Parts: sequence; C-alpha cells; structure tokens
Amino acid sequence: MCGIVGFTGINQAAPILLDGLSKLEYRGYDSAGIAVRDGSAEAEIVKAKGKLKVLREMTNDGNAVTGTCGIGHTRWATHGEPSTLNSHPHSSDDGNVIAVHNGIIENYQELRAKLIKKGYVFHSQTDTEVAVKLVDYYYKKYLGTPVDALNHALVRIRGSYALAVMFRDYPEEIYAARKDSPMIIGIKDGESYLASDVPAILKYTRNVYYIGNLELARLTKGNVIFFNLDGEEIQKEMKTIEWDAEAAEKGGYEHFMLKEIHEQPKVVQDTINSVMKNGTISFDSVGLTDEDMRSIQQIYIVACGSAYHVGVAAQYVIESLTSVNVRVELASEFRYRKMKLIPDSLMIVISQSGETADTLAALRMAKDTGIKTLGIVNVVGSSIAREADNVLYTLAGPEISVATTKAYSCQLVAGYLLALQFAKARGEITDARFDQLLAEINTIPEKIQKILDDDKERIQWYSAKIVNIKDAFFIGRGIDYAIGMEGSLKLKEISYIHSEAYAAGELKHGPISLIEDNTVVFSIATQRDLYEKTVSNMVEVKSRGAKLFGLTTYGNYAMEDTADFTVYIPKIDDLFAGSLSVIPLQLLSYHVSVGKGFDVDKPRNLAKSVTVE
Ligand code: F6R
Repeated sequence: MCGIVGFTGINQAAPILLDGLSKLEYRGYDSAGIAVRDGSAEAEIVKAKGKLKVLREMTNDGNAVTGTCGIGHTRWATHGEPSTLNSHPHSSDDGNVIAVHNGIIENYQELRAKLIKKGYVFHSQTDTEVAVKLVDYYYKKYLGTPVDALNHALVRIRGSYALAVMFRDYPEEIYAARKDSPMIIGIKDGESYLASDVPAILKYTRNVYYIGNLELARLTKGNVIFFNLDGEEIQKEMKTIEWDAEAAEKGGYEHFMLKEIHEQPKVVQDTINSVMKNGTISFDSVGLTDEDMRSIQQIYIVACGSAYHVGVAAQYVIESLTSVNVRVELASEFRYRKMKLIPDSLMIVISQSGETADTLAALRMAKDTGIKTLGIVNVVGSSIAREADNVLYTLAGPEISVATTKAYSCQLVAGYLLALQFAKARGEITDARFDQLLAEINTIPEKIQKILDDDKERIQWYSAKIVNIKDAFFIGRGIDYAIGMEGSLKLKEISYIHSEAYAAGELKHGPISLIEDNTVVFSIATQRDLYEKTVSNMVEVKSRGAKLFGLTTYGNYAMEDTADFTVYIPKIDDLFAGSLSVIPLQLLSYHVSVGKGFDVDKPRNLAKSVTVE
C-alpha cells in the first residue's frame, strides 16, 4: 500500500529518500512527500499530489533539499482524497513532531475529537495527522523521551501502523514503531535506513533488522536500538537479505497475483474493521443511514466482470436477510436498457478502480433519474468515489495483478456487511441472529488463512494435472453458482482455457451435451439445502465421462464418493461460504497459468482499468 523510507547518515538524505520511494512505486500511490533536516535546523517538508516525478522536479532530484536525516512517503489514499494537503509527512503545527505513516488508525475520529478539545487544529482529513498530534501531545504533557511519548500514544491507537517520526529536539534521529504494518531497518557503516518494504533499501544494504509488532526503534547514524511498549530496551538479531530486487518487490512471492492472494486475510479484516464501531456495524463513515435503508424498496447492483460476480453473490445474501428485492445487472447492458427505475430504490455500483467506463455511465444514469447511489470502491478519489452519493470503501490497497483477487474478496465482505446492516435497520433480523452472523463474518480472515496454509500444495499438485485441458465447466447452485462464475473467469483470463459457469440446474437444458470423456467439471457444493441437488448434477456429468473437482465444506466427506479430487473449506454460515470457496479457485487458476508458462500478472488483451467502452 503506502511506502515509507527513512535515512540518517553522512550523505544528503533527499536523493536517497526519492530513490527509495521510486523502488516502492510498483505498489501504487497517488501522492508523495519528504521531510529533511539539516542538523538542528527546522525540517523542510516538500510534498505533492501525483507521481514522484513532480517531487523530483520540485527538488531538483532531491539536490535542492539539504540535510542528512529525513523521512519520505508515497501515499495511497484511505482517509481523505489524494491531495497535497493529505499527503505525508504530517507535522504538529509548531514542527515539534513530524511523521509518515502506513496502516489504518481505526479510532482516529475519537482521538481527533479529544485532541480538538485540547486545542489542536487539524488541516487534513487523514488519520496520520491525528497520530502526529497525539504523539506531540504526550511528548509535551510528560516531558519524557520520544520513546515515552510514542508509547503513550500507541497504547491509545487502535488499528495498524508503521510510523517513522522525527522530533525537533532530537536532530539526526528517526524513531520508528509498528503494529501489523511492515517495516524494516537497514544498517551500514555510519548510515541507517528504514523502509516499509525491502526494495527501497536493497541498493544500500542487505543487513536488516525486522522490527516486531508493538516494538519501537531509535535510529541514529549507523546504529539502532529497539524498545518494547514499556520503554525497555530489547535485543534483535541482524538478518541478511538474500532476495534479488525483483523478488523483493513481490515480497518474496513469484508473482503479484500470489502475493495478493496471500494478502486477503489482512485486507478483508481491514475492510471489516473500517465499518466496525463498539463491536457493531456503523455506516457513519459511509453516510447511508438506517432511515435510508428503511425507505428503500428495491436495490440495483451494477458492475462489470468480477465485480459483477460479487453483485450476484451479494444478491443472494441481501435477499436472504431482508425483504428488499435485488436486481443485478452488467453495467455494459444496463446503460443501454431503457428500463424504468423504481423511485425508492438504491443503486449499488461495485468497482475496484472506480473508473470503469460502463459502471460510471450506469451510475450517472441512476443519478439523472434521482435515485440514491452507493459505490463500493477501492480507489479513494476515483470518479465513482467522487460521484456516488455514498461510498463504502474496500481496503484492499493497490492491486497490481490484472486478475482481481483481494479486491474481489473485500467487495464480497462489504456486500455482507451491507446486507446485515440493511436487515438490522429494517428490523428484519433478531439481535441474536445479527450478532451470530457478524461473529461469523469476523471469522472469515482466519479461515481464509487456514485455506492458504493447508491447501496450497494439494491444489498446486492438482493444477499440474490439468494444465493441458482445453475446456472446463464450473457448476453450483445459489451462492455456489456465483462463486463458480468467478472461478471460471479467473481460470479463463489467466490460463486461456475455455471455461463456462452454469447454474447446476441448467445443465439439462443444453450444456450437458458438451460433456464428454475427461471433460473437467469444477463443482461447488457448500450450501447445505442445495448440496444433494448439486451432487445429483455431478453424478449426471460423471456418468457422461466428466472428471470432477469437488469443493465443499469439512464434514461433507461423502463428496469423495463422487468427485475425483476434493477440496474442503472450513465450516461457516452458508451465506458467507463464497469468501472461502473462492480461495482454492484463485489458487487453482494461478497454478494452472504458471504451469502453462504464461505471464500471470499481465494476461494478454486485458487492462487493469477499463476506462473505454
Ligand atoms: C477480472 C477483473 C475484471 C474486473 C472488471 C471491473 O479478474 O479484474 O473483470 O473485475 O474489469 O473492474 P473494476 O472493479 O475496476 O470496475
């Protein structure tokens, strides 16, 4: 997501910071900034919206900024639009504390309100400015060391952070702290570096320390001391990085797609946390009120590709939990259909990029007819995010691989949260069932992790066996059908195998004539009330020669009587099984594509953001 670089040493800091940030560009960002100190002089802060090129031009490649100690940042907007004001570094108004930050501070609104009461003024919309001013507050209140001030602040912060901080009273020093956001420290003779990711410092040193969760570090020239949250010094072992630069960009994974598949537990958790307040769902930040939800008679979900598949799954969940009818439409079709939209309705547009031309056109049509619109969007400040009446952000971070995985999973979970809140606002769910379903949603990240930990090798093995197939079919019923659509798209787009998804009950109406000896049929059967029916459809294709891949929940071991290869997902309420069953299908497509030697992250003929019709 965002990128952090820090340096204190003998050489001029700004060119090193800009060089380090350029190595993190692949992660995606919308603005950048640096803060550099020349001895004990005040820090010079330079920041700009847009590409690093702008910052380079403003500073003559960093040469115009003097000083040998500094911090730098590339920002991917999460709180507040991409702008120079919101970009990092942020500073206390008197320049006492200056910091850059990665991660999400979940209770920033609460902390901001407290600081305002203490007389602090805020200029940006970011959670980072809150962190900076909180540290400043404790530094001045207790008159202790920077480590004391950071510790006081960090115990009050909920969420994730990697922080790099400079204090006016401590020239040529940088302080770092982290929780659930990566950060490393590199050391060389007389020079210390810090970065959110290895590529930023690989050119300078391979000797690094990994700063642990809830740990702090004090960097001086060529030296680092670590502390725990009680302010006690702790010892850490130096490690040597063996990766080459390209592997480092991908966090050691062979491809971005695999890296993004593995990021899913974290980003799904971040997306859930973004709408949780005091243990329940709160859509305050989205702006959709309970009153709005009560008045809505019809929901239209409009999107393209994988985002459309999320809509199909969300339709089943919303209709199961509420009395609202849901219509899911492909944006490219919807925009030319001359249908009458029901006045008291809500249009939900789903888009990772927030720029997809057809989805944007559908949103504008809805706005022209005066119906309420909600965007489920990943990119803050994108066209859809700006134009929709309300926005529910997915916190997937930048997705580099063309084939979506982590953004899809975040969109799906956003759909569940929306469905649950609709049911609650409309009085259509008991408190007990609401609490139970919310608890189930909160188990999704750890269950995705379990699938990633347990099933990778088996799926890789199976993928190797099917690399040469020419056709594939995905079947399922209800939510399983929606996930089959996504599994089928993943397989075809990156492995170029012809693949179709069918509602299992439709097979007899035509597609079954395509089944012949050794045709591979991926069968998804996680929905309790539909399980036997799907298994009957599996038997029908098996008797016509199909080879069956079965995907079901632990406990349904009889699946092995029918399927040739079975993958199990952890038990979860049927409504949310899609978040788990999609994971083996993502891994499968990935390994088939790798097995065929294709460019997994950049499949032919496809673009990450489809801004034309
Ligand atoms: C498939 C994929 C696409 C996108 C579609 C919509 O892996 O990524 O099908 O889902 O192009 O894109 P967004 O979500 O940016 O509107």
